[in-house]
Amino acid sequence: MDWKKQLEEYAALTEEALLQYIQPQKDCGQGTIFEAARYSAMAGGKRLRPALVLEFCRLCGGDVRTALPFACALEMIHTYSLIHDDLPCMDNDDLRRGKPTNHKVYGEAMAVLAGDGLLNLAFETASDPMLLASIDPQTQLRAIRTLSRSSGMEGMIGGQVLDIEAETRPISLEELKTLQSLKTGALIGAAASLGCILGGADGKKTEAAQEYARCIGLAFQIQDDILDIEGDEAVLGKPIGSDADNQKSTYPSLLGLDACKQMVHDLSRQAVEALEGAFEDTGILVPLAWSLAERVS
Ligand code: IPE
Ligand code: IPE
Ligand code: MG
Ligand code: MG
Ligand code: MG
Repeated sequence: MDWKKQLEEYAALTEEALLQYIQPQKDCGQGTIFEAARYSAMAGGKRLRPALVLEFCRLCGGDVRTALPFACALEMIHTYSLIHDDLPCMDNDDLRRGKPTNHKVYGEAMAVLAGDGLLNLAFETASDPMLLASIDPQTQLRAIRTLSRSSGMEGMIGGQVLDIEAETRPISLEELKTLQSLKTGALIGAAASLGCILGGADGKKTEAAQEYARCIGLAFQIQDDILDIEGDEAVLGKPIGSDADNQKSTYPSLLGLDACKQMVHDLSRQAVEALEGAFEDTGILVPLAWSLAERVS
């Protein structure tokens, strides 16, 4: 199948499942929180992380349907991180996925709760005992722990902490690399790891997948920082100039735009090379890596 079609199919599967997950099982008057959570979760987005979970699972010989709840759980966590990232106490942004940010529509308190709600729902979804019909308990536990560690204080949240603390002081390139590898790299790495866990990958495939994810994760955040400078807000669906306004330390602020564009290219090549010798069938992974390097949204 054409790689773009495959990506669209993965996005459609994810969105259909997300819509089912983000609704109350029993209505006790708390409907606003589900509405707020759905508002951000269903606002579009590239669905990159779920696509990586599903594709790595498929390429390792697993069933995409088995991986789908975990792909959705990861997308819920990613969406919660964006809702909180946009809050006035963090990046203070008004536009996300082409729509007003969650707190602009529902207020700050409800946006905090919608983020918290999505985080909890992610673990409720991943720990559903019904999933034991298609995976064994050890595999389910490993997947849950991967979700938990990658999004926690030594993962994405830790990266957000470094990002905030770096606003008020200059940081070295090494520190910036650590920051980016956590705030963005951790969830992209989790996507590859989850796909491998659920697909039953061997050590060689798992290592290659992690190196691929490390490279595209870093390239992805550098490209995000480039687009924050020279992107088109209407295409990007979020404000440009946010990093400069918040005095963020970014790759372009440290190295300049030209060096960053070269890095994105080099990292994408490294990602593609990481797959060689481990995956005979690389599915959508090669064109995906190159398309991310050229993305404008
Ligand atoms: C935005 O992630 C936050 C970063 C880690 C740079 P995406 O660019 O994947 O956002 P969506 O999901 O497509 O909206
Ligand atoms: C945030 O990075 C990554 C998260 C963990 C949410 P950014 O602050 O650069 O993400 P955008 O540019 O607002 O999407
Ligand atoms: Mg931020
Ligand atoms: Mg931000
Ligand atoms: Mg950004």
